[in-house]
Amino acid sequence: MLDKIKEHIAKVEAFSASTLEDVEAFRIKYSGRNGVVNDFMAEFRNVPNELKKDYGQVVNKLKTVALEKVNTLKEALEDTNDTASTINDLSRPGEPISIGARHPISIVKNQIIDIFSRIGFNVSEGPEIEDDWHNFTALNLPEYHPARDMQDTFFIQTNPDVLLRTHTSSVQVRYMENNKPPIRTISPGRVYRNEAISGRSHCFFHQVEGLYIDKDVSFADLKQTLQYFTTEMFGKSKIRLRPSYFPFTEPSAEVDVYWGLETETDYKMTKGTGWLEIMGCGMVDPNVLENCGIDSKEYSGFAFGMGIDRIALLLHQISDIRMLSENDIRFLEQFKSAL
Ligand code: DAH
Repeated sequence: MLDKIKEHIAKVEAFSASTLEDVEAFRIKYSGRNGVVNDFMAEFRNVPNELKKDYGQVVNKLKTVALEKVNTLKEALEDTNDTASTINDLSRPGEPISIGARHPISIVKNQIIDIFSRIGFNVSEGPEIEDDWHNFTALNLPEYHPARDMQDTFFIQTNPDVLLRTHTSSVQVRYMENNKPPIRTISPGRVYRNEAISGRSHCFFHQVEGLYIDKDVSFADLKQTLQYFTTEMFGKSKIRLRPSYFPFTEPSAEVDVYWGLETETDYKMTKGTGWLEIMGCGMVDPNVLENCGIDSKEYSGFAFGMGIDRIALLLHQISDIRMLSENDIRFLEQFKSAL
């Protein structure tokens, strides 16, 4: 008799079911009123006294094992039913996905890249940690130039040869060292200067450098290229070039675009003149070409450099440059509709 009950225990333990109906049938068979467990209980009084203890224990075990089995199977099946019904419910509302926005710096940078790529410029990049040669010396920046001053440049530790680049013109040098003319490249990137942080200036900002080297490149080509750029970028084609000085270009110029004086903002932005300064440019100094291994008798070219942050502030009417690096989600979310 005991062996028979133990056999049942083993059967119960091995039992599994794939539907709730099967579990119910199992429950009735073992734990129902006329089930196996009750049958064995009824036998109890016919068991000889000396065996009653063992018999009782084994029947009780069968009872609990059967109940536990029913409960665990039921739970498992109800769980899978739940998941299945959620997955299959096609009318369930979707999880809301919050869509991000591009950063205004990226928006403006991509616009600039797009405009120049249409006239054959590729994109190049260089390291933000630079050496003296690429940031200064190769660019004809004389030793006494203020840009070399500790005031402006972040040097890395005590080694004056390792610094955070102060402009993207360093990428010009790297590009010319590694590529033969014709060269048409623009180099966007972050630059660093040791300046007090305020609403108008920051110790890091972004520039785009442009470089065009080929045979017979003239100042007229430069002016035409810049005019194409301002027309595409701002919808303004009136520009003027003011003579200026950069060590790496000769002649050098500052580019102003005529913004107009139609609104109060135009007055504010242009300080009442209608003109807005947007970049520096010039014909690449022959010394710079030679420093980079390009024959200055055979080739000439132009370069230009502009600040991305300033253009982003202008185009999006942002009043404080610090907003561009604070990562305030309320500010960034406002650019969702931009490109
Ligand atoms: N590197 C200059 C600056 O940081 C900008 C610049 C001016 C770049 C004239 C040029 C250039 O390539 O020709 O202010």
